[in-house]
Amino acid sequence: MKPIQVGLLGIGTVGSGTFNVLTRNQEEIRRRAGRGIEITMVADLNVERAREIVGDRARVVADAREIIANPEIDIVIELIGGYGIARALVLEAISAGKHVVTANKALLAVHGTEIFAAASAKGVMVAFEAAVAGGIPIIKALREGLTANQVQWVAGIINGTTNFILSEMRDKGLDFDVVLKEAQRLGYAEADPTFDIEGVDAAHKATLMSALAFGIPVQFDKAHVEGITKLAAADIRYAEQLGYRIKLLGIAKRRDDVGGIELRVHPTLVPAKRLIANVEGAMNAVMVQGDAVGTTLYYGKGAGSEPTASAVIADLVDITRLHTADPDHRVPHLAFQADELRDTPVLPISEIRTAFYLRLRVADQKGVLSAITAILAASDISIDAVLQRESNEGEHQTDVIILTHETQEGAMRDALAQMQALPTVLAPIVSLRKEELA
Ligand code: HSE
Repeated sequence: MKPIQVGLLGIGTVGSGTFNVLTRNQEEIRRRAGRGIEITMVADLNVERAREIVGDRARVVADAREIIANPEIDIVIELIGGYGIARALVLEAISAGKHVVTANKALLAVHGTEIFAAASAKGVMVAFEAAVAGGIPIIKALREGLTANQVQWVAGIINGTTNFILSEMRDKGLDFDVVLKEAQRLGYAEADPTFDIEGVDAAHKATLMSALAFGIPVQFDKAHVEGITKLAAADIRYAEQLGYRIKLLGIAKRRDDVGGIELRVHPTLVPAKRLIANVEGAMNAVMVQGDAVGTTLYYGKGAGSEPTASAVIADLVDITRLHTADPDHRVPHLAFQADELRDTPVLPISEIRTAFYLRLRVADQKGVLSAITAILAASDISIDAVLQRESNEGEHQTDVIILTHETQEGAMRDALAQMQALPTVLAPIVSLRKEELA
């Protein structure tokens, strides 16, 4: 049978990895897919560089629309990124009857509802394994491997840049700004790292996982997003003393008690004994807890040329296997049948429930601790552990660290405002959320 023909939009790091792996492992991939898969056209504005990568094995064009208009092309891979031209081209490819493979989490987290609806109406597939956690097959796990389960929660280290920075901060006791500069110098962080360090990239990925886990539409605008820019080395150190590591987690959790979903990205204290707490450097890991399977963990490279290409090609194989199947009998884009998505609300941050880590800079005098604990008790917040550093000679102030039991975020915010107003609390209180992930 003639190989399935693929057009690639954008041949940067992941695109060239895809081209190379597909060429290198051609025969094994054919044996798995039941048919050869060939990238026969590549579109890139930098035509010269694209030609250097593909040689004479594919036709290189500057205009992506030449690929979309070509009736020979069955699948379009979108690796341009962003929401602008990428959205237009994906929708045009769908409307031209092409299946689409994309690594573009931003596009799907923001415009997924429109894109999946267009694909369903046209009877084509939009596959996005590479959009979450790079080479880790977490989409496949959520969409297929775990279909028996009521997923309880998903929690992941889904941004390598920030995990690298946090690992360095902990290892070397350095502050965020210093480590960021070093990460940029080593190529671990982009020149403009905003999406990574502010948690936006992780929130795009968590949004996609929430849809797959709970059968809700993708709703990036409802996600609570906090990055790591305000984290101090001191908190990483105190957390360590209490047996915790701080990780930037993307969390999606079902809350049957209130009929809602929590969707949030923020620095999180995780018990140091959990495997996920020991995921270091630029690696990614995702935990999924299902009612039947229990807790599962998926680990690997979340970015990079060939790890991400591995996910892109897995999607190409899936589409090749299924493209002659009746569209109604394919695996649904978001794991649940399109007409079975529910409007279960994503809860506002004030309604989420977590435990907390608090660091208060206080005057070292009598009655300070009891004033703080009285506020927590009156707010119905139970204390789990307290750590107080001896004040330095002549300093007359010290850090008090408090771990609380789980509470509603709204109650904690009220208590924080009251504690902050105490004249003996001398600096802005640091509060971080804590998850046991058990
Ligand atoms: N910028 C991402 C990260 C990789 O640092 O993990 C692509 O999603």
